[in-house]
Amino acid sequence: MRFQLQGERLTLDEDFVVEGDNLVVLDALPAASFDLVYLDPPFNTGRAQARATLSVTRKDATGPGSRTGFGGRRYSSRLLSRLSYDDQFADYLTFLEPRLARTRELLAPHGTLYFHIDYREAHYCKLLLDEIFGRDAFLNELIWAYDYGAKPRRRWPAKHDTILVYVRTPGGHHYDADAVEREPYMAPELVSAERAARGKRPTDVWFHTIVPTNSREKTGYPTQKPEGVLRRIVAASSRPGGWCLDPFAGSGTLGAVCRQLGRRFVLIDSSPLAIEVIRRRLGDQLTPLEAPAVPAGHARR
Ligand SMILES: C[S@@+](CC[C@H](N)C(=O)[O-])C[C@H]1O[C@@H](n2cnc3c(N)ncnc32)[C@H](O)[C@@H]1O
Repeated sequence: MRFQLQGERLTLDEDFVVEGDNLVVLDALPAASFDLVYLDPPFNTGRAQARATLSVTRKDATGPGSRTGFGGRRYSSRLLSRLSYDDQFADYLTFLEPRLARTRELLAPHGTLYFHIDYREAHYCKLLLDEIFGRDAFLNELIWAYDYGAKPRRRWPAKHDTILVYVRTPGGHHYDADAVEREPYMAPELVSAERAARGKRPTDVWFHTIVPTNSREKTGYPTQKPEGVLRRIVAASSRPGGWCLDPFAGSGTLGAVCRQLGRRFVLIDSSPLAIEVIRRRLGDQLTPLEAPAVPAGHARR
């Protein structure tokens, strides 16, 4: 596993952890290489980056409102102008759009994107993903339900995240239902003893605890996701030995799960704290290399 700073083109010859803005790093990765990309972006950050790069959406547009954005790509403002009644969401979608567009290019023809998002933004993000991937590439809306934290008394306590799943090629994606760990039936008395003992394949609603305090996997990173949730994703949508990518890696949960399941990985995060947590979490098999010094302004393109 190699640690690196943004600024170098990456050849997928070993697992990578890269510190830098994923917008730059994604561009340095080889296209059509990944079985799986998992994205768990923070909400409402990247405002400054978004404004500095482009304020629009839709690749390869040529019509009115089109303009040249990051990396010389052409974009038009069609979708965002439809959504821009809410500045906060427009800024957020503007941050996400070029990253999602590049992610699509990085997926192998059989590849799958898992986009993990809060219930408040999920619907806006669905529209953006439909625009980038095409509606026919939408595979699933997964609901991850947990039960933790305060419960307000004036509405239903919101205790779920949404994971939107899109494929690179509609109908041509890798999905291994048998590789996913089974779970207990809700009403085992309604099925045969044999089926009850085998358990059932999970559906699109996943009941799973958050990372428990004092558990082996707890790193202390505030937004850490449980390995159990990622394990399903990696098992179902990547092949043994296949490449998986997490552009918002945080504590490195995707990397930890890839190690367990024999997959290769690239983790990216712009926060030195996240990189330090990953270093500690995955460091047992580390061969640290000095990150190459990147002169100011040297970022590719
Ligand atoms: C919600 S956390 C991810 C948590 C992760 N799934 C885990 O299990 O630990 C989002 C991460 O995105 C990183 N991030 C935010 N903007 C970024 C950017 N432009 N490039 C790379 N990383 C970024 C943050 O530093 C943060 O660690």
